[in-house]
This record gives sequence, structure tokens and C-alpha cells, in this order.
Amino acid sequence: MDEFARHASGFQLDDTRHQKWCVAGRPDGNVRGSDFELLEAPIAELRDGEVLLQTLYLSLAPVMRGYMSGESYAGEAPLEIGDVIHGRGVAQVVKSRHADWKEGQVVQGQLGWQTYKISSMMPQEKFRRMPPNGLPASHGLGALGMTGLSAWAGYFNVGTPRKDDIVLVSGAVGGVGSLVIQLAANVSACETIGIAGRAEKCALAARLGCSTTIDYKSEDIQSALASALADGLDLYFDNVGGPMLDAVLDHLRHQARIVLCGSISEYTLDEPYRLPAYTRLRRTDAQMRGFFVYNHLEDWDRAMDEMAGWIRDGQLKPVEQITDGFQHMPAALAGLYSGQNMGKQLCRVRGEPDTWI
Ligand SMILES: NC(=O)c1ccc[n+]([C@@H]2O[C@H](COP(=O)([O-])OP(=O)(O)OC[C@H]3O[C@@H](n4cnc5c(N)ncnc54)[C@H](OP(=O)(O)O)[C@@H]3O)[C@@H](O)[C@H]2O)c1
Repeated sequence: MDEFARHASGFQLDDTRHQKWCVAGRPDGNVRGSDFELLEAPIAELRDGEVLLQTLYLSLAPVMRGYMSGESYAGEAPLEIGDVIHGRGVAQVVKSRHADWKEGQVVQGQLGWQTYKISSMMPQEKFRRMPPNGLPASHGLGALGMTGLSAWAGYFNVGTPRKDDIVLVSGAVGGVGSLVIQLAANVSACETIGIAGRAEKCALAARLGCSTTIDYKSEDIQSALASALADGLDLYFDNVGGPMLDAVLDHLRHQARIVLCGSISEYTLDEPYRLPAYTRLRRTDAQMRGFFVYNHLEDWDRAMDEMAGWIRDGQLKPVEQITDGFQHMPAALAGLYSGQNMGKQLCRVRGEPDTWI
């Protein structure tokens, strides 16, 4: 039995108790079982203005190691040892003493790693009602959630794709990347090249629309890029950072755009990677621009309408890897940093696997 399985053994989901995963230690390298503690308590009584949310799905995202390390994002207070780990989720309102929220409504927002949350639905928790649109509830954490907005805003607002662009995407089969390759290949009809780490992942990237794929774990990245990008690239959507970003800088076309979405290859390093080839931007009038999804919330409604429309008409196929069972959250998080997920990594806490909303 591995350290995560040992940690989770004996757990039973209890609909009468509030169960939660808390920070037990600061991660050093990848997260380990000893960084997490599972606690439970009776569910408290609601006061006026509060709702009781029952968790259906929880999101797993690379940023969570940063939360556990005490880093602060989007104005949230840094986590202390013993705090519930931050994370977005989809939940149902099962009791309400709040005028604006009714029992039975399905919401998504900042739930934390817990099976229930009592909330006053404050703006900073960013709860949004999930419209009953006939699509699975799990999409509220993927294509129709912050992951989807990250792909949409990063690609359209920051990447500003143009007709006939050649688009390269790293982390092409992760939560964000698997959406971006489909926006580029199917919605914009651009030639799209995906980088992922295994033959099975590259095969999926090809099925989702990539004309060329690079398996960076078995191919030499420099020569694979030289061959796939013989004509250079116009848009690089970077989920990975590090030496891969550096290698891509040798292949920029005139006025190429680089979208800095994430740098997952650096998250478990003690020192960030320095970018020796950054001066290549100058030669090609290229731009490298970062973005933070929470600065694009004004586009939420438009982005979600478009994404839902593309899902319905088949241009966008959400890829989700769903771990069953709240007790397996820590192991699922550790798997993100070693590339074990295909698509958006979620945990199903309760509800039917094909819950529709
Ligand atoms: N800017 C923003 O506001 C924003 C919003 C959301 C996410 N992000 C960032 O965007 C990135 C993608 O997020 P996500 O939710 O899609 O994560 P994800 O589902 O975990 O996907 C990331 C993918 O990166 C690949 N990867 C992991 N380690 C790698 C390494 N050392 N070198 C190369 N590839 C590696 C993995 O697949 P392989 O098997 O192919 O390695 C993994 O599937 C993350 O860096 C995240 O922090 C930023």
C-alpha cells in the first residue's frame, strides 16, 4: 500500500458529518501524504444569511501546491497549517437561510477540499449558479469553469489568434491545454501542434485536432520542434515554462505571440528557471504576455455561452479524468505534477457519475 492509500484507508463518506482535508505540512518537491490531514466534525447549524452546500465534485489544479506552501493568489489569505485546502468545486444547496439562494440549486465556486461548506455566499467566494443547460455538472470545473475561462481568455484575449496562424500548445492534454488545442484546431481552424508526455496523450491530442504532436518524454525536443515548426510559429500557448519555453523561442515568426498561462515544470523546483533565449523576442518583434484568469471575469458569460455552444455542436469535447472518492484527493493532486492526468483532473465526491444540470 502506498503512502496515499494508507492515508485514505478506512475513510467513509458520511452525509451527517463535515469532512475536510487540511494542510499538515509545507510541500518539499511534490506533495506527500504527510502534507495532508483528514479531519471531521458534526455539521453546524445554519444562521440567517447562510446556506449549506453539499459537495458533488472538486477540482484538482497545479496551483494547489502553491496554496499549501502558503502562497497567496487572487487576494485570498495564505493558508496556515491546519487550514482547509483551497479549491473550487460544484455543490448543491441542501439547506438555505439566504434570501438569494434556494435549496436544490447547483453552484460552482470556492468550496475548499471539504464534503460540506456553510457559506454566506460572499463575493470573494465567487459562487455562481450553474445554469440548467443539459450538460454534465462536472463540466462546471472544466470547460464551463475557471479552466474553460483560462483557455478562452488566454487564447482569444491574450493570444489574439489570426487566420492561418500556426499554433503550438504545451501541456496539450492537460485541463487547459486540451481545450486550447480544440479552440485552435476546430474553432479557429488553425494548424495546431501539441506537446504532451506519452504516446497515449499524443494520440488523444491528434484525435482532438492537432495535425502534429510531439512526445517530449521520448523525443529530443530541439529536433522535434525544428521538424514540426519548419515554417515557424505564430502563437505559443505555454502551460509549462522552463527549458521547453526556451527551446520554442528559436522558432518564432515575425510578430509571434507567446501566452504565458503556466509554468508547471517549475512548480516543484527550489529556484525558478531563468530564460536564456529571451532576446529572440527582439529579433522577431514578438510579444510574450502573461495573464491571470481572475482578471478576465468580465468575460465569464460570453466565454461560457460560447464554450457551451461549441460543446453542443461537437467542436469542443471536454476531456475529464475523474477520481472517485474524496479520500483520494491528495493522490490525485500529486499525480498532476507527474503528468498522470489526461484532461481536467476532478474528484467525484458524491452524486451520479453522469449528473446533469
Ligand atoms: N494564468 C492563469 O490564470 C492560469 C489558470 C489556470 C491554469 N494555469 C496554469 O496553466 C497550466 C495548466 O493548468 P491545467 O489546469 O491544465 O493543469 P494540468 O491539467 O495539470 O495540465 C498540465 C499538464 O502539464 C504537463 N506537465 C506536467 N509537468 C510537466 C513538465 N515538467 N514538463 C512538461 N509538461 C508537464 C502534464 O502533462 P504531460 O504528461 O504532457 O507532461 C499535465 O497534464 C498550469 O501551469 C497552471 O498553473 C494558469
